[in-house]
Amino acid sequence: MSNKIIIAIDGTSSTGKSTLAKRISKQLNYLYIDSGAMYRALTYYAIKRKFISNSHFDKTKLIADIPNINIDFRNNLTNNNLEVHLNGISYENKIRSLEVSNLVSEIATVDELRKQMVLVQHALGLNKGVIMDGRDIGTVVFPNAELKFYLEATTELRAKRRYDELLLTDKNITYDEVLDNIKLRDNQDTTREHSPLKKANDAVLINTDNLTLDELESKLLSYINPLITKNL
Ligand code: DC
Repeated sequence: MSNKIIIAIDGTSSTGKSTLAKRISKQLNYLYIDSGAMYRALTYYAIKRKFISNSHFDKTKLIADIPNINIDFRNNLTNNNLEVHLNGISYENKIRSLEVSNLVSEIATVDELRKQMVLVQHALGLNKGVIMDGRDIGTVVFPNAELKFYLEATTELRAKRRYDELLLTDKNITYDEVLDNIKLRDNQDTTREHSPLKKANDAVLINTDNLTLDELESKLLSYINPLITKNL
């Protein structure tokens, strides 16, 4: 009998979801799927096709173009991580830019796109052994996941974490613009009509403010390990 489970991690941005999910996936030899990267790749596409900018969003044109957009994950052989690909190409650095971050929550409101992404996410979860992070994983994508976590942290701490991360690739970035972006996305992600961010009733709530990554990893594993052993 398979001992593989599905682990869903949801929460607002920069709560440490992806760092923890990546670490745990290596420990368990599970697939780590960054569902936010899918929405970021869609946003990068929409910017390039001029469907969206700070001043306009042509949703109708973007929806009509869905048949031309292929999002999948492929293994990066240098770090053994799965990376999102847009029509066969990885844009890993570009999709993390503040330009994409500022528009991604708007793109993520489009239900037609979300439905396509959920199809891809379901296919990735077919054989279990998956840890996926995002905003709607425990509520919409895998409501029957064996284990769900909901991560939270204060807005200022999240902004500081994201600022430190972005500073590595963009020396001109300011803390205030990162903080503004986090507040904007929190608001859009929690109030949108389709699949808004919310804690699933059966998700384990973890506050990441005062714990180190090692402590957080141990905490999550203390919930995961008994389930994996039980299913052996
Ligand atoms: O995890 P992230 O910050 O890279 O996600 C980028 C955006 O994508 C986030 O602000 C909202 C959207 N998103 C979503 O709507 N549903 C998901 N499952 C994952 C991300």
